[in-house]
Amino acid sequence: MNYKLTIDWNDFLTNYWQKKPVILRKAFTNFIDPITPDELAGLAMEEEIDSRIVSNKDGVWDAKYGPFTEYHNLGEDHWSLLVQAVDHWHEQAATLVEPFKCIPQWQFDDLMISYATQGAGVGPHIDNYDVFIIQGMGSRRWQVGDRNPNYKQFNAHKVLLHVEDYQSIIDEELTTGDILYIPIGCPHNGISIGESLSYSVGFMTQTSQELLSSFADYVIDNLPNGIYYQDPNLKLPNDPHRVQPYELTKLQDQIIDLIKTPQLFNDWFGKHITQSMHELNIVPVEPPYDYNEFESLLKNGSKLHQVPSIRILKVGDFGYIHGEKIDLPMPIIDLLCETETLYYKHLQNKNVLQIMLEFVNKGYWYFAEE
Ligand code: SIN
Ligand code: CO
Repeated sequence: MNYKLTIDWNDFLTNYWQKKPVILRKAFTNFIDPITPDELAGLAMEEEIDSRIVSNKDGVWDAKYGPFTEYHNLGEDHWSLLVQAVDHWHEQAATLVEPFKCIPQWQFDDLMISYATQGAGVGPHIDNYDVFIIQGMGSRRWQVGDRNPNYKQFNAHKVLLHVEDYQSIIDEELTTGDILYIPIGCPHNGISIGESLSYSVGFMTQTSQELLSSFADYVIDNLPNGIYYQDPNLKLPNDPHRVQPYELTKLQDQIIDLIKTPQLFNDWFGKHITQSMHELNIVPVEPPYDYNEFESLLKNGSKLHQVPSIRILKVGDFGYIHGEKIDLPMPIIDLLCETETLYYKHLQNKNVLQIMLEFVNKGYWYFAEE
C-alpha cells in the first residue's frame, strides 16, 4: 500500500517532537488497514514474534505472553492483543512505516500493532520511547498528560507498570486516519471504543548506561592491549592518600580519548545500532549459492529483495548492516540503503557481487519469487 502522510514535518519537529503530545487529525486520508485482526492473531501464534494479551476484566489487570494457540476463551470485551515488530513479518503492514522514514532511521524501533475489544487498553503508563499511534479500524479514547519527573509508577500486575493519576492535556477520541504523537515520558491511556486496531510507530534511543556498557564491550573485544594511566611528570603530592584533581581529569581524559577516537566510536556505533531489537525474518540459504550460480540468476533477471526492516545505516565513511561493516564504496551503500529491490544492473562488479553473495547467503537479501 502507498500511504501518504500529510504532516508538516518542520512544524512538527519545531513544536512537538520530544516536547509535547499532539493529535494530527486525518494525517492519513482514506486510511485502509494493512492487516486484519485475524492475520494479527495468526502472527501472534508464531514462536519468533513477540506478542502479548492484556486484559482488564472487572478492573483486574492480567497479561500473558505469546505465542498463543487459541483466542476463543477471551470473551467479547476488555482484552487486547499487542504484536511487536509486525514490520518484520508482514509486508503490507511494513509499508505503513514508509512515510516516517524521513526521521533519523537509527532511532526507528518497530511497528507495534494492537487489536483491542470494547473497553480494552493496557492501562495508564509511561513509555521510554516516542511513538506515533495511528488509529486504524474503529476508535479509541486517549488521555495524555505532560512530562513530569514526579509521576508515581506502580505494578498493576507483575509485568504491567502503571502510572498514578495525572492531569490530561489531551482527552480525545481518535478515529480512523488520525495520529496521536506521544513524546517519551508522557503518561497516556488508550481505551478502545468497540473493536479497534492501532499502529504504533516507535522511535527509541538508548540510555548513557546502555551505550557505555556496549562501547566498553566493543573496546575490550577490539583493543587487545591495555592502555595504562601514566604520569611521567609526577611530583610528590602533599597528601599521597588523596587522588589529586588533575589526576581525576587525566583519568577522565583517558576514557574520553577512547570515545573520541572515530575509528573506534564510529565502528562500534555502526555495529551496535544496526543490531535489531526484535527478531528478523532472516533465513540463511542452504546450501549456499556459489558465485557463478548467483551471478547467472541475476543475469537472467532475478531480483533481490531486502529482508523487511533489516537495519542498514551509514556512520562516517562506512555502511553497516545487521551488526557488521559493509566493505563497499559509499555509492553502493547509498543504493543498498535506498533501494529495496536490486537487479543485476545495480551490482555489475565482481567485488560488489561477491559481497552481495555473502549477504544473500546469510539471508539479508533474498531472491523474489516472481
Ligand atoms: C495499545 O496500542 O494498545 C497501547 C499502545 C501504548 O499505549 O503504548
Ligand atoms: Co504506551
